[in-house]
Amino acid sequence: MKIYKTQSELQKFLRAKELSRVGFVPTMGALHNGHLSLVKKALEENEVCVVSIFVNPTQFDNADDLEKYPRTLQNDADLLKTVSDEILVYAPNAADLYGKEVKSAHFNFGPIAKEMEGAFRHGHFDGVGTVVSLLFEAVKPTAAYFGEKDFQQLQIIKKLVEIKKFKIKIVGCEIIREKNGLARSSRNTRLNAAQFDQAALIYKTLKEVKMRWHSSSINDLNEYVESVFKKHDFLNLEYFVIANEATLKTGKRKRITNTYRAFIVVFAGEVRLIDNLELGKG
Ligand code: PAF
Repeated sequence: MKIYKTQSELQKFLRAKELSRVGFVPTMGALHNGHLSLVKKALEENEVCVVSIFVNPTQFDNADDLEKYPRTLQNDADLLKTVSDEILVYAPNAADLYGKEVKSAHFNFGPIAKEMEGAFRHGHFDGVGTVVSLLFEAVKPTAAYFGEKDFQQLQIIKKLVEIKKFKIKIVGCEIIREKNGLARSSRNTRLNAAQFDQAALIYKTLKEVKMRWHSSSINDLNEYVESVFKKHDFLNLEYFVIANEATLKTGKRKRITNTYRAFIVVFAGEVRLIDNLELGKG
Protein backbone atom coordinates (compact mmCIF):
# COMPACT_ATOMS: atom_id res chain seq x y z
CA MET A 1 0.00 0.00 0.00
CA LYS A 2 1.41 3.34 -1.03
CA ILE A 3 1.53 6.33 1.31
CA TYR A 4 1.72 9.65 -0.55
CA LYS A 5 3.24 12.54 1.36
CA THR A 6 2.56 15.16 -1.29
CA GLN A 7 -0.45 16.00 -3.39
CA SER A 8 1.66 16.31 -6.54
CA GLU A 9 2.78 12.64 -6.29
CA LEU A 10 -0.78 11.51 -5.58
CA GLN A 11 -2.21 13.53 -8.48
CA LYS A 12 0.46 12.20 -10.85
CA PHE A 13 -0.54 8.63 -9.98
CA LEU A 14 -4.29 9.31 -10.28
CA ARG A 15 -3.95 11.20 -13.58
CA ALA A 16 -2.05 8.33 -15.17
CA LYS A 17 -4.90 5.93 -14.26
CA GLU A 18 -7.59 8.07 -15.96
CA LEU A 19 -10.25 7.03 -13.43
CA SER A 20 -13.86 8.13 -13.61
CA ARG A 21 -14.82 7.20 -10.03
CA VAL A 22 -12.49 8.22 -7.21
CA GLY A 23 -13.84 7.60 -3.70
CA PHE A 24 -12.37 9.62 -0.82
CA VAL A 25 -12.42 9.15 2.95
CA PRO A 26 -10.92 12.15 4.79
CA THR A 27 -9.72 11.29 8.31
CA MET A 28 -7.53 12.56 11.11
CA GLY A 29 -6.06 9.08 11.58
CA ALA A 30 -6.26 6.85 14.69
CA LEU A 31 -8.43 4.70 12.48
CA HIS A 32 -11.05 2.30 13.83
CA ASN A 33 -13.93 0.20 12.51
CA GLY A 34 -16.04 3.29 11.91
CA HIS A 35 -13.49 4.57 9.39
CA LEU A 36 -13.09 1.10 7.89
CA SER A 37 -16.82 0.94 7.16
CA LEU A 38 -16.48 4.21 5.17
CA VAL A 39 -13.44 2.82 3.34
CA LYS A 40 -15.28 -0.40 2.44
CA LYS A 41 -18.21 1.55 1.05
CA ALA A 42 -15.88 3.81 -0.95
CA LEU A 43 -14.10 0.75 -2.37
CA GLU A 44 -17.41 -0.87 -3.34
CA GLU A 45 -18.70 2.21 -5.13
CA ASN A 46 -15.53 3.46 -6.88
CA GLU A 47 -12.55 2.33 -8.93
CA VAL A 48 -10.15 3.54 -6.26
CA CYS A 49 -10.30 4.72 -2.65
CA VAL A 50 -8.07 7.47 -1.26
CA VAL A 51 -7.83 7.87 2.52
CA SER A 52 -6.30 11.07 3.86
CA ILE A 53 -4.69 11.13 7.29
CA PHE A 54 -4.09 14.62 8.61
CA VAL A 55 -4.71 16.05 12.09
CA ASN A 56 -6.01 19.46 11.10
CA PRO A 57 -4.88 22.21 13.50
CA THR A 58 -7.37 24.84 12.32
CA GLN A 59 -10.43 22.91 13.50
CA PHE A 60 -9.30 22.59 17.14
CA ASP A 61 -10.33 25.33 19.55
CA ASN A 62 -8.43 23.63 22.35
CA ALA A 63 -4.62 23.35 22.13
CA ASP A 64 -4.56 20.44 24.58
CA ASP A 65 -7.06 18.41 22.56
CA LEU A 66 -4.95 19.01 19.42
CA GLU A 67 -1.76 17.97 21.16
CA LYS A 68 -3.33 14.83 22.68
CA TYR A 69 -5.09 13.75 19.48
CA PRO A 70 -3.69 10.26 18.76
CA ARG A 71 -1.21 10.03 15.84
CA THR A 72 -0.69 6.43 14.74
CA LEU A 73 0.25 6.43 11.04
CA GLN A 74 1.89 2.98 10.97
CA ASN A 75 -1.03 1.33 12.79
CA ASP A 76 -3.45 3.13 10.49
CA ALA A 77 -1.64 1.83 7.40
CA ASP A 78 -1.62 -1.72 8.84
CA LEU A 79 -5.34 -1.53 9.56
CA LEU A 80 -6.12 -0.27 6.05
CA LYS A 81 -4.07 -3.13 4.62
CA THR A 82 -6.46 -5.60 6.30
CA VAL A 83 -9.20 -4.15 4.06
CA SER A 84 -7.23 -3.83 0.81
CA ASP A 85 -3.68 -3.37 -0.42
CA GLU A 86 -4.95 -1.09 -3.18
CA ILE A 87 -6.02 1.79 -0.91
CA LEU A 88 -4.10 5.01 -1.56
CA VAL A 89 -3.12 6.91 1.58
CA TYR A 90 -2.49 10.64 1.45
CA ALA A 91 -0.70 11.71 4.64
CA PRO A 92 0.61 15.22 4.02
CA ASN A 93 2.30 17.66 6.33
CA ALA A 94 0.61 21.02 6.93
CA ALA A 95 2.71 22.83 4.31
CA ASP A 96 1.73 20.45 1.50
CA LEU A 97 -1.93 21.10 2.19
CA TYR A 98 -2.00 24.72 3.39
CA GLY A 99 1.11 26.26 1.83
CA LYS A 100 2.98 28.80 3.97
CA GLU A 101 0.19 29.89 6.28
CA VAL A 102 -1.86 27.39 8.28
CA LYS A 103 -5.01 29.39 8.78
CA SER A 104 -8.76 29.13 8.32
CA ALA A 105 -10.80 30.71 5.59
CA HIS A 106 -14.18 32.07 6.64
CA PHE A 107 -17.39 30.50 5.32
CA ASN A 108 -20.98 31.55 5.51
CA PHE A 109 -22.66 28.23 6.16
CA GLY A 110 -25.80 29.94 7.47
CA PRO A 111 -27.98 28.75 10.38
CA ILE A 112 -26.75 25.11 10.31
CA ALA A 113 -23.37 26.29 11.63
CA LYS A 114 -24.74 28.39 14.49
CA GLU A 115 -25.93 25.79 16.97
CA MET A 116 -24.33 22.83 18.78
CA GLU A 117 -20.71 22.37 17.63
CA GLY A 118 -20.82 25.82 16.01
CA ALA A 119 -21.79 27.37 19.35
CA PHE A 120 -19.51 25.29 21.57
CA ARG A 121 -16.35 25.03 19.42
CA HIS A 122 -15.42 28.47 18.20
CA GLY A 123 -14.11 28.51 14.61
CA HIS A 124 -14.47 24.72 14.31
CA PHE A 125 -16.52 24.65 11.11
CA ASP A 126 -14.36 27.27 9.39
CA GLY A 127 -11.41 24.95 10.11
CA VAL A 128 -13.27 21.89 8.82
CA GLY A 129 -14.48 23.77 5.72
CA THR A 130 -10.95 24.99 5.02
CA VAL A 131 -9.22 21.64 5.31
CA VAL A 132 -11.94 19.71 3.47
CA SER A 133 -11.79 22.22 0.57
CA LEU A 134 -8.00 21.84 0.43
CA LEU A 135 -8.31 18.05 0.57
CA PHE A 136 -10.96 18.01 -2.16
CA GLU A 137 -8.68 20.13 -4.35
CA ALA A 138 -5.71 17.85 -3.63
CA VAL A 139 -7.50 14.51 -4.15
CA LYS A 140 -10.12 15.57 -6.73
CA PRO A 141 -12.58 12.82 -5.76
CA THR A 142 -15.92 12.12 -7.41
CA ALA A 143 -17.47 10.94 -4.11
CA ALA A 144 -16.54 11.54 -0.46
CA TYR A 145 -17.66 9.54 2.60
CA PHE A 146 -18.40 10.93 6.08
CA GLY A 147 -19.77 9.31 9.25
CA GLU A 148 -23.09 10.40 10.71
CA LYS A 149 -21.54 10.54 14.18
CA ASP A 150 -20.57 14.10 13.23
CA PHE A 151 -24.00 14.74 11.78
CA GLN A 152 -23.69 18.53 11.82
CA GLN A 153 -20.29 18.28 10.10
CA LEU A 154 -21.92 16.16 7.37
CA GLN A 155 -24.50 18.90 6.74
CA ILE A 156 -21.71 21.51 6.71
CA ILE A 157 -19.79 19.53 4.08
CA LYS A 158 -22.93 19.30 1.90
CA LYS A 159 -23.25 23.09 2.19
CA LEU A 160 -19.54 23.53 1.43
CA VAL A 161 -19.92 21.54 -1.80
CA GLU A 162 -22.82 23.83 -2.75
CA ILE A 163 -20.91 27.04 -1.90
CA LYS A 164 -17.68 26.01 -3.67
CA LYS A 165 -19.51 24.22 -6.52
CA PHE A 166 -17.46 21.04 -6.10
CA LYS A 167 -18.72 18.22 -8.33
CA ILE A 168 -18.47 15.66 -5.55
CA LYS A 169 -21.18 13.35 -4.24
CA ILE A 170 -21.30 13.45 -0.43
CA VAL A 171 -22.22 10.13 1.15
CA GLY A 172 -23.29 9.94 4.81
CA CYS A 173 -22.66 6.61 6.55
CA GLU A 174 -24.30 5.19 9.67
CA ILE A 175 -22.65 5.35 13.10
CA ILE A 176 -20.57 2.32 14.06
CA ARG A 177 -20.72 1.47 17.77
CA GLU A 178 -18.64 -0.39 20.35
CA LYS A 179 -20.25 -3.50 21.88
CA ASN A 180 -21.55 -1.39 24.78
CA GLY A 181 -23.20 1.08 22.38
CA LEU A 182 -20.63 3.89 22.63
CA ALA A 183 -20.12 5.51 19.21
CA ARG A 184 -16.74 4.56 17.74
CA SER A 185 -14.32 7.47 17.91
CA SER A 186 -10.56 7.96 17.78
CA ARG A 187 -10.90 9.67 21.16
CA ASN A 188 -12.20 6.42 22.76
CA THR A 189 -8.58 5.21 23.05
CA ARG A 190 -8.03 8.00 25.59
CA LEU A 191 -10.72 6.62 27.94
CA ASN A 192 -9.71 4.51 30.94
CA ALA A 193 -11.62 1.26 31.57
CA ALA A 194 -14.18 2.83 33.94
CA GLN A 195 -14.79 5.78 31.61
CA PHE A 196 -15.22 3.44 28.65
CA ASP A 197 -17.77 1.29 30.53
CA GLN A 198 -19.70 4.24 31.93
CA ALA A 199 -19.75 6.07 28.57
CA ALA A 200 -22.30 3.47 27.47
CA LEU A 201 -24.77 5.71 29.32
CA ILE A 202 -24.64 8.20 26.42
CA TYR A 203 -26.25 5.90 23.84
CA LYS A 204 -28.48 4.30 26.50
CA THR A 205 -29.85 7.76 27.30
CA LEU A 206 -30.37 8.59 23.61
CA LYS A 207 -32.32 5.34 23.17
CA GLU A 208 -34.45 6.17 26.23
CA VAL A 209 -35.15 9.61 24.72
CA LYS A 210 -36.30 7.89 21.52
CA MET A 211 -38.59 5.59 23.54
CA ARG A 212 -40.16 8.61 25.24
CA TRP A 213 -40.24 10.78 22.10
CA HIS A 214 -43.92 10.44 21.20
CA SER A 215 -45.21 10.75 24.75
CA SER A 216 -43.02 13.63 26.00
CA SER A 217 -42.39 17.27 25.24
CA ILE A 218 -38.95 18.51 24.14
CA ASN A 219 -38.69 20.31 27.45
CA ASP A 220 -39.37 17.13 29.46
CA LEU A 221 -36.74 15.26 27.46
CA ASN A 222 -34.16 18.01 27.98
CA GLU A 223 -34.83 17.88 31.73
CA TYR A 224 -34.67 14.08 31.74
CA VAL A 225 -31.23 14.01 30.09
CA GLU A 226 -29.88 16.76 32.33
CA SER A 227 -31.04 14.81 35.41
CA VAL A 228 -29.37 11.58 34.20
CA PHE A 229 -25.95 13.24 33.88
CA LYS A 230 -26.30 15.46 36.96
CA LYS A 231 -26.39 12.27 39.04
CA HIS A 232 -23.26 10.84 37.43
CA ASP A 233 -19.87 10.96 39.17
CA PHE A 234 -17.64 11.72 36.21
CA LEU A 235 -19.65 12.00 33.00
CA ASN A 236 -20.38 15.68 32.41
CA LEU A 237 -23.00 16.80 29.95
CA GLU A 238 -21.82 19.64 27.69
CA TYR A 239 -25.05 19.85 25.73
CA PHE A 240 -28.12 17.88 24.79
CA VAL A 241 -30.47 19.27 22.13
CA ILE A 242 -33.28 18.04 19.96
CA ALA A 243 -33.15 19.68 16.55
CA ASN A 244 -34.96 19.60 13.24
CA GLU A 245 -32.84 17.19 11.19
CA ALA A 246 -33.04 19.29 8.01
CA THR A 247 -32.33 22.75 9.43
CA LEU A 248 -30.55 21.74 12.66
CA LYS A 249 -32.62 24.39 14.40
CA THR A 250 -33.51 23.62 17.98
CA GLY A 251 -36.98 24.51 19.15
CA LYS A 252 -39.37 24.03 22.05
CA ARG A 253 -42.33 22.73 20.07
CA LYS A 254 -42.51 19.66 17.81
CA ARG A 255 -44.17 19.79 14.42
CA ILE A 256 -45.63 16.67 12.85
CA THR A 257 -44.19 17.56 9.43
CA ASN A 258 -40.58 17.80 10.66
CA THR A 259 -38.11 15.01 11.38
CA TYR A 260 -36.06 15.38 14.55
CA ARG A 261 -32.74 14.15 15.85
CA ALA A 262 -31.23 14.20 19.35
CA PHE A 263 -27.64 15.47 19.70
CA ILE A 264 -25.41 15.05 22.71
CA VAL A 265 -21.88 15.87 23.88
CA VAL A 266 -20.52 14.45 27.12
CA PHE A 267 -17.10 14.81 28.73
CA ALA A 268 -15.59 11.71 30.32
CA GLY A 269 -12.76 13.39 32.22
CA GLU A 270 -11.02 15.43 29.52
CA VAL A 271 -12.31 13.34 26.64
CA ARG A 272 -15.11 14.88 24.61
CA LEU A 273 -17.61 12.34 23.26
CA ILE A 274 -20.25 13.15 20.66
CA ASP A 275 -23.28 11.16 19.52
CA ASN A 276 -26.74 11.54 17.98
CA LEU A 277 -29.85 9.53 17.21
CA GLU A 278 -32.73 10.02 14.81
CA LEU A 279 -36.07 10.39 16.63
CA GLY A 280 -38.51 10.51 13.73
CA LYS A 281 -41.41 12.87 13.00
CA GLY A 282 -42.59 15.33 15.61
O1 PAF B 1 -14.26 14.10 10.80
C1 PAF B 1 -13.03 14.26 10.79
O2 PAF B 1 -12.23 13.37 11.11
C2 PAF B 1 -12.46 15.61 10.39
O3 PAF B 1 -13.28 16.65 10.83
C3 PAF B 1 -12.18 15.74 8.87
C4 PAF B 1 -13.47 15.67 8.07
C5 PAF B 1 -11.24 14.64 8.43
C6 PAF B 1 -11.52 17.09 8.58
O4 PAF B 1 -10.31 17.23 9.26
